[in-house]
Amino acid sequence: MSSANSSRNVEQIVNGIPTSDGAGVSLLRVLTQNLQRRLDPFLMLDEFRSDDPRDYIAGFPTHPHRGFQTVTYMLAGRMRHRDSAGNEGLLSSGGVQWMNAGRGLVHSELPEQEEGLMHGFQLWINLPSTRKMSEPGYRDIPSSEIPEITTESGVGVRVIAGETNGVKGAVDEPDTQPLYLDLHFAPGQSYSFPIPAGHNAFLYVYEGSFLVGEKNTRVNAQQMAVLSNEAHATGLSLHAKEHASALLLAGKPLREDIVQWGPFVMNTREEVEQALADYREGRFS
Ligand code: CO
Repeated sequence: MSSANSSRNVEQIVNGIPTSDGAGVSLLRVLTQNLQRRLDPFLMLDEFRSDDPRDYIAGFPTHPHRGFQTVTYMLAGRMRHRDSAGNEGLLSSGGVQWMNAGRGLVHSELPEQEEGLMHGFQLWINLPSTRKMSEPGYRDIPSSEIPEITTESGVGVRVIAGETNGVKGAVDEPDTQPLYLDLHFAPGQSYSFPIPAGHNAFLYVYEGSFLVGEKNTRVNAQQMAVLSNEAHATGLSLHAKEHASALLLAGKPLREDIVQWGPFVMNTREEVEQALADYREGRFS
């Protein structure tokens, strides 16, 4: 793809909102509930980044999830995962944990470091109604198993999910077909990434800044660009004048009702109430 006029454009720029979650972990909430319809199947994106242990040391003690998938991508630091199904794993720099909450599990995510930088992202991806009550499970994907490519223009790309440049990512999800790329541009580099028409997409810049689309809209660090869904657009063109890094996400919308109450995301209010009752009565394995 080389033609700039086939690029999507920036429809909206969203600034991440500083907040805290878990037992007091400071984070930047980027994708919030008001954009869940627009960015279907993506439900939430948080960035956590601090070298002050007070911002992360308490972690995310035991809590439940039902009805969607959580994807944690660690750039720096170490986090220990334990869940009610007896699984345990250590997520470390460059690695991904892809968890299917399905019908429900209870887990904790606790830092396994008392100092130094902790930097990463948690993304929530919805499940279709037919899989909301599926068997829970998870995959720890170490950094070495995430394909890395360099485009002809020199851009570094880690392919976490989906496919780009003929390279398949570490994860393949048939229902939502997520594309999850971690992009690293050097000053002056440009590249255009194919994105399937009809899929919802966004770019989250976490380092430097990018000029995005045919209109060259500037998107700065800690900003998310919601990308337009023009029928003629076959992808996204990006240019960086400085060292810049971003996550590019795209996915096939599920077009189902979304009802969220905290860690439960279902299709109806009744299903959310059932989730809460099941959790309270200990039916989350
Ligand atoms: Co969790």
